[in-house]
Amino acid sequence: MSKKHKIVVGIDFGTTYSGVAWADTSSATEEINPIRQWPGATGRHDVDKVPSEIRYTPIEFKWGFQADEAPAVRPQVSAPKNTKLQYMKLLLDPSQEKKGKGRVQLADPLGLAQMRLALPLGKLPVDVVSDYLKCLKEHALDVLSKSFGTNFWNSIPIEYHLTIPAVWSEAAKALTLQAAERAGIGSKNELVLIAEPEAAALYCLTDMYHDLLKIGETFVVADCGGGTVDLVSYKILARKPNLKVKEVAVGGGLCGSVFLNRRFEAFVRKRIGSDVVDEMIRKDRPYRKMMKDFDERLKRIFRDSDDQELLDCDLGNAVRDDVTKRVEDGFLEITREEMSGVFNPVIQEILQLVREQIDTVALGSQDRVSTVLLVGGFGSSPYLQKQLSDHIAAMYQNRIKVLQPPNAWSAVVRGAVICGLQRVQIQSRKARRKRNT
Ligand SMILES: Nc1ncnc2c1ncn2[C@@H]1O[C@H](COP(=O)(O)OP(=O)(O)OP(=O)(O)O)[C@@H](O)[C@H]1O
Ligand SMILES: [Mg+2]
Repeated sequence: MSKKHKIVVGIDFGTTYSGVAWADTSSATEEINPIRQWPGATGRHDVDKVPSEIRYTPIEFKWGFQADEAPAVRPQVSAPKNTKLQYMKLLLDPSQEKKGKGRVQLADPLGLAQMRLALPLGKLPVDVVSDYLKCLKEHALDVLSKSFGTNFWNSIPIEYHLTIPAVWSEAAKALTLQAAERAGIGSKNELVLIAEPEAAALYCLTDMYHDLLKIGETFVVADCGGGTVDLVSYKILARKPNLKVKEVAVGGGLCGSVFLNRRFEAFVRKRIGSDVVDEMIRKDRPYRKMMKDFDERLKRIFRDSDDQELLDCDLGNAVRDDVTKRVEDGFLEITREEMSGVFNPVIQEILQLVREQIDTVALGSQDRVSTVLLVGGFGSSPYLQKQLSDHIAAMYQNRIKVLQPPNAWSAVVRGAVICGLQRVQIQSRKARRKRNT
């Protein structure tokens, strides 16, 4: 039976980064095309996704890579009109924030209370998310129109597949739908919600591990992102004519990579003094430079290995050299132990979530997990990979493999498209994939 001709667009609206990918069902290979051109991203290499950031000015707003172009002012110290808003996705589900509070040992670790105060006058979180999603969608249509010609969407239906965290409350799902509909995603067209780790699993199963996982095997997908860590477990039921899997457990928590940033800031405050960091925030550029150096370099390279006994962080020329504070040439010296201290509470949360997932599978059935697939931006952390592999090996006597697929960062958005291409049949424990449920 031939499939109806449509364009499937996957949208992964993330806490820190978002991705869009598409496929044309009339092409023989149904190739998945992640969008890699974004306004303001010229010269950057990490363009699989675009920052989930928006900045309102009195006359307009800027989004994605362009949100950083205007002078940045942190929410705490700025006038609401010109604030760069980050982590807006988490404002859609306050129940997650409550669950997470104190778990990584910081009160309001993401500054969401200040973020709420920084919303432009008259705008609710759902409005801001809607504005951002509209930019994503319009950019996607612009890219598509360059491939197919300007009026292509009048003749070819577009079906959107939007991802949401597995742990999202019903209220948050409803708000996400509302924001998407207001952004024109799904108003005329089909809109399907899909859980983020489910999308990642679809990608791993069809594009990566088609032959690795056998009938009867159960595997966990851990999507370690910026805000949330989402987990889902599947058992492989059949491979032919279509791959068929059954969902056996779902879990997750608020312990993504941005908690490392907040813990790092708290660590620097202790090392060089809160007043010094406050002054860096007031000047703005030094603070941004320091956090960028941590976010885009230090936390990504940290391995806790013998060749990394000492690390350093750029303080943006804002702090005078001081031997007692271990500041030299404008850089803060950080030992391997200190960096592990920044990571460990967050890593421990993730290890616990993965263990709970493996144990839940064993409790609920005769099944045993054979493989953990680590995806998401934080999933590419060498330190997290090592800690998780060692922990799982020790806890489960080397019975369980931990793998990290290529394209782990864009696995969710690729999987969202695969969902629309209907290459895999999933038996969910409850219907989570229908619209308005
Ligand atoms: N090697 C790394 N180590 C630690 N963190 C990393 C690494 N590479 C990227 N990150 C972080 O991962 C996050 C982005 O990952 P991802 O795009 O999967 O998250 P997201 O989709 O924005 O969040 P969520 O899925 O929780 O909504 C950013 O916070 C980024 O700094
Ligand atoms: Mg994500």
